[in-house]
Amino acid sequence: MFPTVILALLTLQPFVVATCPFLGSVGTHLTRRSENWSPTYQNTMTSADWQNLKLDIQAQVMQAGHGPAAVRLAWHDAGTYTLAGSGGPHAQKRFISVVQDTGLDATMSVMEPLKSKYPQISYADLWSFAGAVVVANSGGPSVKWRPNRADAVDVFDEPFTTNDLPDFTWNAAQLKRFFYAKGFNDREIVALSGGHCLGGVPQLNAPWTSTPLEFNNAYFVLLNNPDQYTAVDGGYKNRDGLIMLASDMALVEDETFAQFVRLYAQDEEAFFNDFASAWEKLSELGITGGLGQYVDVRVGSGGSSGASGSGSSGSGSSGSGSYQPYSPPHHGRVKAVRIGRN
Ligand code: HEM
Repeated sequence: MFPTVILALLTLQPFVVATCPFLGSVGTHLTRRSENWSPTYQNTMTSADWQNLKLDIQAQVMQAGHGPAAVRLAWHDAGTYTLAGSGGPHAQKRFISVVQDTGLDATMSVMEPLKSKYPQISYADLWSFAGAVVVANSGGPSVKWRPNRADAVDVFDEPFTTNDLPDFTWNAAQLKRFFYAKGFNDREIVALSGGHCLGGVPQLNAPWTSTPLEFNNAYFVLLNNPDQYTAVDGGYKNRDGLIMLASDMALVEDETFAQFVRLYAQDEEAFFNDFASAWEKLSELGITGGLGQYVDVRVGSGGSSGASGSGSSGSGSSGSGSYQPYSPPHHGRVKAVRIGRN
């Protein structure tokens, strides 16, 4: 569990920054300054450990209906990275979370028994690996993955703010500004957004597709027909009750984005290949300590050094349980920054 103390509202954040003895100049993005930071972790898992961990992720995460949430956790951890050098996949969310992270406390708790069983893996590697395993074993591409993400050790390592994760109300220009600052181009932005083929949004009480536990191109097929959707509070719904966020709709409002939406709607393999590349890039942002050997993320395949490119795993949704609409819902637009220790 993650006992969390609410220390500051976002409006107080400049105070936190300005008075922290480890921090230098005050800027939009904080930089890595903890005295305890030591990004020298090298994973020591054996091939058998990886095999067993994959089976445990399948049983405890995917079959329990938490696969989409695990993908979201991996993305939110890595997605805080900026070209300015801050953020990145260091499990900083154990100490601080922002409004966009709503619901991820529960996902982190799902990961705890796995971390206890495999203490030699960092939280950051565990979360990243779980996301990759879910993608590959929900019918998606066999994304390439390798370990050595060091964990933040306290609240001052790789901190982030609400500015470092996207907002569901954003338009195309806002999405571009955000993702360009992390080194992604338009094609990669659209491919990554295809992660919304999995799961759903509690406040809209619905998934994006009728197959929320299967990684496929249904999101783009649906998005390619925006006229089928009407605005509801917080987003859009079609007549089957499937949802889109304003930030999803932005992908068909901008012609540069829209050409890739059309491509992926027609060509699932192109989506899988592009998603695999962009996901690997995302998962390795800002890793400075040197990455380890590739680990095959497919359940039932070799434990290490066996990454096989980005083709479809062909394993369908065999690892998935039934989709559980989840709670708690978003609490409006409250901007809380929660800081605590586990
Ligand atoms: C482009 C900007 C993005 C925005 C604005 C956005 C926004 C959101 C929002 C508001 C939710 C609902 C969260 C909740 O309250 O539970 C969500 C869920 C989700 N997001 Fe994103 N997202 C973005 C990009 C991505 C990317 C790049 C990925 C992965 C590659 C991703 C994967 C997911 C998944 C899998 C869920 C479902 C989680 C579940 O069902 O538990 N999102 N996203």
